[in-house]
Amino acid sequence: MHFSLQINIYLCASKKFNLNITMNFFELQSREFATRHIGPNERETLKMLQEIGFDNLEQLINQTVPEGIRMSEPLNIPRAMSEHEFLRHIKEVSLKNKIFRNYIGQGYYGAITPSVILRNVFENPGWYTQYTPYQAEISQGRLESLLNFQTMVSDLTGLPLANASLLDEATAAAEAMLMFFNAKNRQEHITKPKFFLDKETFPQTKDVVYTRAKPFGIEVVEGNYAEAVIDATYFGALVQYPNNIGSIEDYRSFIGKVHEADAYVVMATDLLALTLLTPPGELGADVAVGSAQRFGVPLGFGGPHAAFMSAKDDFKRLLPGRIIGVSVDAEGKRALRMALQTREQHIKREKATSNICTAQALLANMAAMYAVYHGPKGLKQIAERIAIFAQTVASEIEARGYTLVAQSFFDTIVVKVDDASVIKSRAEEKKINFRYFDKHWVGISIDETTIIEDLFDIISCFENESETIAFEIAEDDGLYRIPEKLTRTSAYLTHPVFNSYHSESQMLRYIKYLENKDLSLNTSMISLGSCTMKLNAATEMIPLSWNHWSNIHPFAPVEQAGGYKELIDTLSQYLCEITGFDACSLQPNSGAQGEYAGLLTIKAYHEAQGNPQRNVMLIPISAHGTNPASAVMAGMKVVVVKALENGYIDVEDLKVKANQYADQLAGIMITYPSTYGVYEESVKEITQIIHDYGGQVYMDGANMNAQVGLTAPGLIGADVCHLNLHKTFAIPHGGGGPGVGPICVKAHLAQYLPGHVTMSGHSNGAVSAAPYGSASILLISYAYIRMLGAEGLKKATQYAILNANYMRARLAKHYDILYTNNNGLCAHEFIVDLRPFKKTAQIEAEDVAKRLMDYGFHAPTMSFPVPGTIMIEPTESEDKAEMDRFCDALINIRQEIRDIEEGKADVKDNLLKNAPHTQYAVTADAWTHAYSRQQAAFPLPYVKLNKFWPSVARVNNTLGDRNLICTCEPVEMYVEE
Ligand SMILES: Cc1ncc(COP(=O)(O)O)c(C=O)c1O
Repeated sequence: MHFSLQINIYLCASKKFNLNITMNFFELQSREFATRHIGPNERETLKMLQEIGFDNLEQLINQTVPEGIRMSEPLNIPRAMSEHEFLRHIKEVSLKNKIFRNYIGQGYYGAITPSVILRNVFENPGWYTQYTPYQAEISQGRLESLLNFQTMVSDLTGLPLANASLLDEATAAAEAMLMFFNAKNRQEHITKPKFFLDKETFPQTKDVVYTRAKPFGIEVVEGNYAEAVIDATYFGALVQYPNNIGSIEDYRSFIGKVHEADAYVVMATDLLALTLLTPPGELGADVAVGSAQRFGVPLGFGGPHAAFMSAKDDFKRLLPGRIIGVSVDAEGKRALRMALQTREQHIKREKATSNICTAQALLANMAAMYAVYHGPKGLKQIAERIAIFAQTVASEIEARGYTLVAQSFFDTIVVKVDDASVIKSRAEEKKINFRYFDKHWVGISIDETTIIEDLFDIISCFENESETIAFEIAEDDGLYRIPEKLTRTSAYLTHPVFNSYHSESQMLRYIKYLENKDLSLNTSMISLGSCTMKLNAATEMIPLSWNHWSNIHPFAPVEQAGGYKELIDTLSQYLCEITGFDACSLQPNSGAQGEYAGLLTIKAYHEAQGNPQRNVMLIPISAHGTNPASAVMAGMKVVVVKALENGYIDVEDLKVKANQYADQLAGIMITYPSTYGVYEESVKEITQIIHDYGGQVYMDGANMNAQVGLTAPGLIGADVCHLNLHKTFAIPHGGGGPGVGPICVKAHLAQYLPGHVTMSGHSNGAVSAAPYGSASILLISYAYIRMLGAEGLKKATQYAILNANYMRARLAKHYDILYTNNNGLCAHEFIVDLRPFKKTAQIEAEDVAKRLMDYGFHAPTMSFPVPGTIMIEPTESEDKAEMDRFCDALINIRQEIRDIEEGKADVKDNLLKNAPHTQYAVTADAWTHAYSRQQAAFPLPYVKLNKFWPSVARVNNTLGDRNLICTCEPVEMYVEE
């Protein structure tokens, strides 16, 4: 391509150079990333446009996005940077973060990510680009790893049931509280409204617990557990072990007291400490929660990290989050899958008991791998070293005339001092951060990264004389700061998986062995409607491993986090520009958490307006399950709005409902473009109706990939929306998390955004443990925006629409496509109707999904929002050839269905019902099917070039649910006859 343009280079305000050269190299460099991120090239674009009957992209967009909501001005976002430029830029920003040695603790500890895990899991697209393992047959690797996580949590906490991660320790504590509340109270009939909260719980945990309690009318009673009077009005209690001041308390008699009052106890705890301490289960606790961060996951200014929850067996049907369970496949072999079939058993629309959906799968996998690599002995050694270092520091500080707040501890001591500012200035000179509780209490938390030399520096901060310090590490004295009656005696992590892979070669191969079982974006496209599985570019991911981003403590002094401040402020500003809003909170750790935070914001606004009675949320029938679930969590009443046959919101029904609840109307939750994949022309009318009745409009941003640069929530009349940075803004899904669900709001809602105990000037409660949630992965979205720039962002949206319409057009010749707009076009996704085949060939959507695996593809979103359908979203990042392969697969499958319809294939024994076909089955000596092995495993020529083998045959869900096993089974169960 040949350009002849004039370039204006501004070096500084006063100097301007005009260069007349023949090629605009700036522009070309600036477009570099867009051409990498967007799949189709110019030639392919023309062909695809031809297929759908358009001459250019603009034409297509004009007929897709209603005119009345289109953006008139380009986004005010700086020109795009090339990948190289971006890496230089982000390095400079990173250096504004100052690396100190952190002894702050408070739930976040320095941790060493073993390099073999860093390189082969954390930095490996084979692990981080995966989706939540709904398609079990091509997800056995991460299912196995998550089962390891559950086993590790269950063993260390001494409780039999564990889930596969939650968002953070504070929300896990709040989830436990709600689980207890629901178990002890009937929704309409609350007899036990009180929850006891021990005062020595981490402040951020208390903050989130208070936020969660309020909408349910839960009365949180804070006090000293040792003096608490627990009567029949309590449904539960929370204590921390070791607690906020590091103290190891014996809760046995307290737990007995709570149980006597017919209430439950949750213990917030620390997995590393539990290698040495009597586990919560043995103390009688009903539930344990905490963070697995210190199992090899970087601090990252607050996240992402995996929280855990384990429980007594009685909570099997109540536990929030995903649970991985053991079952068998169609060949009778052991196979894993998400248990309890509905997977998110707790998200039961308006009957929900939690809204958790995306959690922290990738980080749970890292933590599990850390335990696999170190094994029980290795973990214990790490814990003992920490405990010995802590007791050494304690004795030395005591020897210098100080006293400690608590006498028994694991890794944290709190020292009483006359003037903490003296200690602080000494510490800061040595680039050390302690925790400063107040003027007189200084906390020191030792962690895995602490080495002997560090102890000198720590102790010297408490040394008044300037003499050289000498001390002894009395290893032989034992762990005398851990009370004997709370010393762990039971074994843990005895399963072979935790005792087999301790050399790097073994570990490397184990990680690869699991990775090979999973279909990720590095194998083929994952066209999950509503989930936006787009490219997670390597350049976006690289800075995450840099020390200046990964080693910053979330509660480090603000002056040390200049780089993060710049990242957070600039990204917030871009997100406001993109959404057409005025303020943004990056705190929520998932889409659902964003919904919850946004609804609390609306609620607080109505209350401030003197309208606390406004608590009815209208939610269209087609909404994602998390919408009503979040409304319930925010204490709102859900009223469902009907849909028309074409999938649009029934505006007449909306008017009736808005009128019926006029004075109580809090607002509406809409998804735009709708979950049916169309831009409803009536959207502005809908938002107007709600505003006329005094309600607020919440927009679920799951489909923002169809809006960026073309339209905006602000333009359609919304007041608040969440974004899924793990969809639209390139954060990978990590096999079910991490996620980031920031909320953007109009100015009138800004003051009601979530606050945090560590943020001054915020009166609202926190929704996450860390003030900026999963701060480190904000880098990915920031990189995405900076490297695409305004033009690239818009182009990405246009291509998302082009790609979807191209596939729609190809598939429409073979399948019924549901819900298109008046011009017959879809937005960035579309729904293929598979329901007719149930009658004509006894084929269900699931059979098509499983058969796609034989063609090397992950199924699209199944049965959402319409049962019996699949929803396809290719994203802009797929090229024509890949989309053609996928369409060819579906078209061939249609022929396979036709063969059944026409009696050429058996109704029971056919390619679809028996799918997926494993390598084992296809190469077995016996082959009893009427179709050939080639048809089973290599149905199209491209499959022969790049075959992905599902590692198990179709998984039996019901069998596993009837007999729930959610930890690694005894070894005998693996033995195959
Ligand atoms: C439309 C819609 N809303 C909300 C969510 C929930 O988002 P998250 O999984 O990040 O909590 C999803 C998730 O897939 C979704 O598709």
